[in-house]
Amino acid sequence: MKILVFGSFNIDKVYKMPHLPEKGETLYCEGYEIHVGGKGLNQALAFAFAGADVIVGGKVGADGGYLTGYLEKNGIDISGIDSSGEYTGHTIIETDPQGQNQMILFGGANREITEDYCDRLLAKHRDADLLLMQYETSCVEYMLERAHSLGIKTAFNPSPYVDKLKNIDYSCVDILILNEYEGKSITGEAGTERVLKALLALGCKEIILTLGADGAVYYNGEDTVSCPAFIVNAVDTTGAGDTFTGYCLYELLSGTEPGKALLTGCAASAIEVTKYGAAETIPHRENVEKFLNDAR
Ligand code: RIB
Repeated sequence: MKILVFGSFNIDKVYKMPHLPEKGETLYCEGYEIHVGGKGLNQALAFAFAGADVIVGGKVGADGGYLTGYLEKNGIDISGIDSSGEYTGHTIIETDPQGQNQMILFGGANREITEDYCDRLLAKHRDADLLLMQYETSCVEYMLERAHSLGIKTAFNPSPYVDKLKNIDYSCVDILILNEYEGKSITGEAGTERVLKALLALGCKEIILTLGADGAVYYNGEDTVSCPAFIVNAVDTTGAGDTFTGYCLYELLSGTEPGKALLTGCAASAIEVTKYGAAETIPHRENVEKFLNDAR
């Protein structure tokens, strides 16, 4: 299975806080770590660990070797990554003892993507089984429309949410994968069923909605399938959605029935949240299988 992940590559600067700071509050942090991250990088790794051959596209600056080296070391094809004169993207992540977080994103090189770059990437990888994207890079709308017109299957994770996401042409999206907040914000609806129906009416073919502690649900206009979340001791939820995305989509594309695909995604993200960091804590396939066996 050949997957093209077009997305962001960030250096994650993680600060362990006694609590998330209030407006105007100055706080000492209790620990500081640097990790590889970015939704594109995290989802690429999750897809690869699930079992796919993954090619990544996007941009990093001269300071991005830490990220590209990590991807390459983990068996990901980085030949599609272009360099930019901008700094590599980075994220300042504050986590609290309950595992909640808040982030400041610096887009940097991720926002330097041009239509010309997109055309070159798609021309090289028209044979991909899926193009997966998020919303941290520039040119996402263009990439979605071009890929769709070329007949490449698309999966879109509209994250992080900004109002411009209401104006995307969702008929170019084969699989939409998003959380409850993103679903409610895009549609203006409340309640899982209404959100799913409204998203389908926008034109997507299949929808996977994650519901935090309530698990996840799959909907294609006919079948609705849901799966509960696993209860674990979460210390850092950064990257949980990305881990779910890679594993769940891999299963769906492999022909696994949606309920099992959701379950595998939930298991992978349940493991991921028990450690600090995003990309480095995405589990390998054997750990996910073991977790699922132990849970039976
Ligand atoms: O989804 C988690 C990711 O969001 C982090 O790795 C951070 O870089 C931001 O892109």
